[in-house]
Amino acid sequence: MNIQAELRRRFAPVLATYINEPAKYLEMIRPVQDAKFGDYQANFVMPLNGQLKRKPHELANEIIGKLDLADMCETPTVAGPGFINLKLREDWLEAETNRIAADPREGVEPVEKSKTYVVDFSGPNVAKPMHVGHLRSTVIGDSICKILKFVGHTVLSDNHIGDWGTQFGMIIYGYKHFLNQAAFQEDAVQELARLYRLVHRLSDYYDQRALQPKLDKALAAKLEEIDAAASLPGDDKQKQKRQKKLVEELETIREQIGSSRKKLISVETDPALNHYAMQHPEISVKARLETAKLHGGDPENQRLWNEFVPACLNAIQGVYDRLHITFDYALGESFYQPMLADVVADLQAKGLAKESEGAMCVFIPGTEAPFIVRKSDGAFTYATTDLATIKYRREQLHADGMLYVVDTRQGDHFKLLFETAKLWGYTDIEFKHVNFGTVCGPDGKPYKTREGDIVGLESLLNEAVAEALKVIESEELSKSEDRARLDPATQQKIAEVVGIGGIKYADLKHSRESDYEYSLQKMLAKNGDTATYMQYAYARVCGILRKGDIERETLRAQTGSIRLGHPKERTLAVQLNQFTEVLYAAATDCRPSYLTDYLFKTANAFSSFYDECAVLKAETPELRTSRLQLADLTARVLGRGLELLGIQTIEQM
Ligand code: ARG
Repeated sequence: MNIQAELRRRFAPVLATYINEPAKYLEMIRPVQDAKFGDYQANFVMPLNGQLKRKPHELANEIIGKLDLADMCETPTVAGPGFINLKLREDWLEAETNRIAADPREGVEPVEKSKTYVVDFSGPNVAKPMHVGHLRSTVIGDSICKILKFVGHTVLSDNHIGDWGTQFGMIIYGYKHFLNQAAFQEDAVQELARLYRLVHRLSDYYDQRALQPKLDKALAAKLEEIDAAASLPGDDKQKQKRQKKLVEELETIREQIGSSRKKLISVETDPALNHYAMQHPEISVKARLETAKLHGGDPENQRLWNEFVPACLNAIQGVYDRLHITFDYALGESFYQPMLADVVADLQAKGLAKESEGAMCVFIPGTEAPFIVRKSDGAFTYATTDLATIKYRREQLHADGMLYVVDTRQGDHFKLLFETAKLWGYTDIEFKHVNFGTVCGPDGKPYKTREGDIVGLESLLNEAVAEALKVIESEELSKSEDRARLDPATQQKIAEVVGIGGIKYADLKHSRESDYEYSLQKMLAKNGDTATYMQYAYARVCGILRKGDIERETLRAQTGSIRLGHPKERTLAVQLNQFTEVLYAAATDCRPSYLTDYLFKTANAFSSFYDECAVLKAETPELRTSRLQLADLTARVLGRGLELLGIQTIEQM
């Protein structure tokens, strides 16, 4: 049962006697932070009192008097300036715990209103380096799909692969001019990635060269501005402030010049690169031309595209297989290309898209930047494709909601996209940019895998598994000699589960928006908020059942056996009963981090219970069965929770 929702349901009619819209006050009924206040607390009395002008204590007591809660809670008490403390009744909690133990879904009933969600995640760009950002999108998106599905929604996962972008022009240009045939035969994807990086670097060289005079000019202008500012009117403080701002701006330009020069020098001092650069002065324009030719249907470029894409998708698939991640759809940008002209025509017909400086743009009231749906050279954009995608997902997939698990840095794009879609007529779709922050290296800068591409991503996974193996081996060594050792093959299997689980958990546990530092040591720690800790907790409970030679089916068949006499049993039971509300909240807010927090607390509650309550050696057979069932339910909740995070478990570690 969703206890929090049930409590809110019980409070609703009472609050309705005071105010018209109780919803925002009902939100303030939450689980307590500190168990000394009971299990839940209602914190709305003070704000409500602000409206009603009553004595808070008196109001709180009056509300308590009107509540119909006796079957569920002990008599509520009022604390501090008017907090209402709620403690679940022992018999109620016991009955609920027995009920959820007997439920194959651990008490999680499906939501009342099931919707159809398309979840757009992963979206790597073919033949362009796939980075840890795509990995994070993949891991968070997969978990959101699993959570939404489990609480009863229809979920369609769609991998919006970047298989049509400007990178193809670079790769095709590279293929035509710099191909190493032998390397291509050996490993096409690796060679294509090399070509992409090479052409990108050479184009960038010319872009930077073109930028230099502009930067020099900007620098000169800024220096003049600083000179002039000295004689502007104002008191000393104003002058100082102005000066400081100008100097900062000057510094920024200097830094830009510096980093731009560095790029130039790095090419010019590399004989091979410099040679290429001198031979291909128009590389940037010509690479763009190759893209235009591809999009225009040029047979040679289309042939190359058809050769490259499957090879790259195959390599990406290797990463998904390793992560056990599948998609319902992987339509990709290319799929929508035939629809783009119609999209723009329709936007134009509806008076939404207008021509501006040769480009076709949608202007959103209140927003400065336009949403460009066709560039001045006639090319459609990322934006056009995303609009076509919305139309398709609505008309063909019947989506009620569209969730985009994409880097925060694309926030502006999605804001404009959703606004445009609404103006276009898609007013009843629930759009959400499920944004996430950057994965950083120890230097605080965006983390780069060694090779910076798919191959690098694979080596990242290998590294995690190798590190996990060390953790497992050391754990093994610390165990007493008489305990049967795990054979190497089993250890390797465990290492795979722990290593991959560790990476996933780290992506999930940080609140989505925050950046976090990628650290293998931290993510594989045996103690602390890690997958490893949770996996050990799960295996530990399984170990108890194994040691007691307990048949799970037989144990579970003895329904209604759980008793909650010990305070630690009670704490664990409350925790287990909160599974539903946590999953519902994680689903609504698209935040798997709620679930990781919850699992960490659950594992800790189990630890405290197990420290104080004998299980296999409980005083009576009844108590033994009760505690074994509680342990078994804990394992099920941990296992289910990890499953919804996309993390595997093992019975013995
Ligand atoms: N390919 C894009 C990138 O790497 C992500 C795609 C996100 N999905 C979308 N519908 N725009 O940045």
